[in-house]
Amino acid sequence: IDIVIKQDVISGSKYIANLIADLIRSKQASNEPCVLGLATGSSPKTLYAELVRMHKEEGLSFKNVITFNLDEYYPISREAVQSYYRFMHTHLFNHIDIDPANIHIPNGAIDKSEIKAACLEYEKQIEAVGGIDLQILGIGNNGHIGFNEPGSGIYTKTRLVNLTNSTRLANAYEFANISEVPRMAITMGISTILKSKQIVLMAWGPAKAEAVKRAVEDEDTEQVPASFLQNHDNVTFVLDEAAASQLT
Ligand code: F6R
Repeated sequence: IDIVIKQDVISGSKYIANLIADLIRSKQASNEPCVLGLATGSSPKTLYAELVRMHKEEGLSFKNVITFNLDEYYPISREAVQSYYRFMHTHLFNHIDIDPANIHIPNGAIDKSEIKAACLEYEKQIEAVGGIDLQILGIGNNGHIGFNEPGSGIYTKTRLVNLTNSTRLANAYEFANISEVPRMAITMGISTILKSKQIVLMAWGPAKAEAVKRAVEDEDTEQVPASFLQNHDNVTFVLDEAAASQLT
């Protein structure tokens, strides 16, 4: 795992935005699609704002971009203010020139009986476009990536999972109260994530410092799902100084 330490969220986010823009442009130059795996939550907000700025001020086009989001709450409607569908449109998709047909987000509104087939289909859709070129990740305080909570194995694929209480508590600020936070989610698995050609994980602030340390320095373990990233040969953690503060 390569480590890049930036002074703050803004400089770290700009660094990642430049990586993404360079990849999009190099794919455009060879007339290829650029397949991005995307995360939600508070960590990527500044990154998406920077990509929107690059689109508006520098003409960065997303016409060749295909996206797959990591996860979505279950159950949740697309229109709910807390849905990741809504989040992505509010922070990114509504402000860029991406083809809506190229946007993929797990559907949190389907019937339980359809989830298995939908998860299989999600994996197939990723494969059909040649796999994810660059996967963007955040990290949970408990070391989760996507919604692969502690206990998630390295071979897991897209599936329905239970959220831990600590994750529901961490995300409760978006809801009226914790009882409103969905108990489940649909998430790409660890193996889905590890199939990406390149992975960039971002972490900002002191609350992430311990999870970052365990992911990078401890042996890989299901107890810290992000530690499985050690098994991939093109992973970069982009950190601010606070998130890097426990690295030895
Ligand atoms: C969200 C996701 C999660 C978050 C993680 C950190 O799509 O996959 O793993 O990245 O929970 O969330 P924030 O950024 O809100 O601290």
